[in-house]
Amino acid sequence: MSTEIESVLIENRVFPPFPNLVEGAAISGMDNYQAMCDEARRNPDAFWERLARENLVWDKAFTQVLDTSEAPFYRWFGDGEMNVSANCLDKHLNTPVADKTAIIFESDDGKVTSVTYKELHARVCQFANGLKALGYSAGERAIIYLPMSIEAVVAMQACARLGIIHSVVFGGFSSKSLHERTVDVGASLVITADAQMRGGKSIPLKAAVDDALAMGGCGAVRNVIVYQRVGGQLDWNNGRDLWMHDVSAGQPDTCPAASLNAEHPLFILYTSGSTGKPKGVQHACGGFLLWSLLTTKWTFDAKDDDVFWCTADVGWVTGHTYVAYGPLAAGLTQIVFEGVPTYPDVGRFWEMIQRHKVSIFYTAPTAIRSLTKAAESTPKYHPREYDLSSLRIIGSVGEPINPEAWMWYYKNVGGERCPVLDTWWQTETGAHMITPLPGVTPLKPGSCTLPLPGIEAAIVDEAGEDVERGKGGFLVMKRPWPGMIRTIWGDPERFKQSYFPPELKGYYLAGDGAQRDSDGYFWIMGRIDDVLNVSGHRLGTMEVESALVAHELVAEAAVVGRPDDTTGEAVVAFVVLNRTLPEGDEADQIAAQLRSWVAKEIGPIAKPRDIRFGENLPKTRSGKIMRRLLRVVAKGERITQDVSTLENPAILDQLSQAR
Ligand code: WT7
Repeated sequence: MSTEIESVLIENRVFPPFPNLVEGAAISGMDNYQAMCDEARRNPDAFWERLARENLVWDKAFTQVLDTSEAPFYRWFGDGEMNVSANCLDKHLNTPVADKTAIIFESDDGKVTSVTYKELHARVCQFANGLKALGYSAGERAIIYLPMSIEAVVAMQACARLGIIHSVVFGGFSSKSLHERTVDVGASLVITADAQMRGGKSIPLKAAVDDALAMGGCGAVRNVIVYQRVGGQLDWNNGRDLWMHDVSAGQPDTCPAASLNAEHPLFILYTSGSTGKPKGVQHACGGFLLWSLLTTKWTFDAKDDDVFWCTADVGWVTGHTYVAYGPLAAGLTQIVFEGVPTYPDVGRFWEMIQRHKVSIFYTAPTAIRSLTKAAESTPKYHPREYDLSSLRIIGSVGEPINPEAWMWYYKNVGGERCPVLDTWWQTETGAHMITPLPGVTPLKPGSCTLPLPGIEAAIVDEAGEDVERGKGGFLVMKRPWPGMIRTIWGDPERFKQSYFPPELKGYYLAGDGAQRDSDGYFWIMGRIDDVLNVSGHRLGTMEVESALVAHELVAEAAVVGRPDDTTGEAVVAFVVLNRTLPEGDEADQIAAQLRSWVAKEIGPIAKPRDIRFGENLPKTRSGKIMRRLLRVVAKGERITQDVSTLENPAILDQLSQAR
């Protein structure tokens, strides 16, 4: 671990907070931040109790803050009752926010539609009433497979309103992945669209749902509700399939929000782990919403006149926390964008920031890196060609942002006036955990800086002991927090094993390696498990391996990550076929076939960048694949490690030369 971090720590530029952002900030100045951290440390329950009472509307007040009796299955505000949708919408109805724009939606082809809070509330209520009329009720599970749209937010909010647990599946996932999730959650409802538009192309969604449901095991699904986005011919299953507009039509525009226990599950979101099967991360209503709202206020220092734009898709946790829930609970005006950053041209993001006067912009390092390249090669689309003076705060999420990308973002997008917030968090943490605050934190490019008040982040060794500053170790959270994962849906054992291994003293294990510098700043070094981060998306190497070996030509496969300038990591697959070693064009053909196979099995994001064929894989005498060596081969580097424990050292040469 230590060698990897050294290059990062050479970075020693420090950018103090901008005075104009300190004054009046939600957390203003280092003293204010320290005082909050101290308050949380002195009496965590009192700290969270105060915040939960001040920030959420409760139907029934809670009397217990944190129940640790079944740790690590923590319960927060467990005897309180509330509703997430009421806290995002109804709360604003008799305030000036009611007539404020909630969502400015921009479609792939540039059409803009917006809704006020009052209108969004009415649309959510009508759809919720429609779902009720179909017999849906609290506790059932709905799969949502929708493009970025106002309808996606309506669907999520309507579920939350009734206590239907949603599981959003990213539109880029294949029907196979969709099927797996539909079966795992035991969904009784699927909400989808006929198709989605991305970069001028129409990509069918309803057809993928039909395929997924035809794979069997989805007998609980009573309806498929379809948002008509594109129009045109569609296979229709009478009785089962319904148009979303028909479900809402004629329904009253008010719908009582169900008073739900704070621990009622709000959603299940699948993410990759170190086995082949994705984990259904389960979040609870009260704690998740509190943490989403607080971090929206604290990290982004949200103000009444801000225009907030988080570019993440609702298929990922970022789109849950910072599109569907946090900004609405905070009463912000936000942009929801259907398209991609490169269509109709690579200036799309900058042009949209200029036109909508975006003041808070939150995106992923992979987007920044690819737009940097594009801007350098096509100066016409360089951010300096646009008026980005509306920006106040710019953020980054999903993967480490390297100092060069940080500096480019800071100079060219932020105009050296906006702090770059490198926010570290995970699907499991619900919302931000370690992040700079605009009114508090001196920035260091490449560091996610300091934990939020109430978050006891630390770096420990295998025994759970704190490591010295400057030494690498496991990133853990020593105390629970309200927004944390509650369990893995249907697999409480895996939850315990993955996140609370016994040797770590009951700490939450994030799965990242990290270290702290002499100022206590956190530097994330990447995953410690077999999880890759490709363009900010988590991908299990075992998931890709299982997809590959499911192909009839494949006998064995090992997948590793290779550092990549744009996508962070790229997937490299080493494959043994159950036939003779292919060469030349034939090897290329089989590789192409396997790549599209993986896209069909998982989704295009999982496609290996490189496939290398060999007669075998490097294994120890006990048969364990030496991935460490494969990572070196994948980078095209020479192996300097000791390979004497290998059963078949010669295979390394073959794989190094393979195509
Ligand atoms: C993993 C979580 C955070 C929401 C979107 C991704 C990596 C995330 C950072 C960051 C370095 C980061 C970690 C983490 N990661 N943010 N600012 N710096 N690494 O959520 O899919 O659950 O992935 O993404 O490795 O464990 P996710």
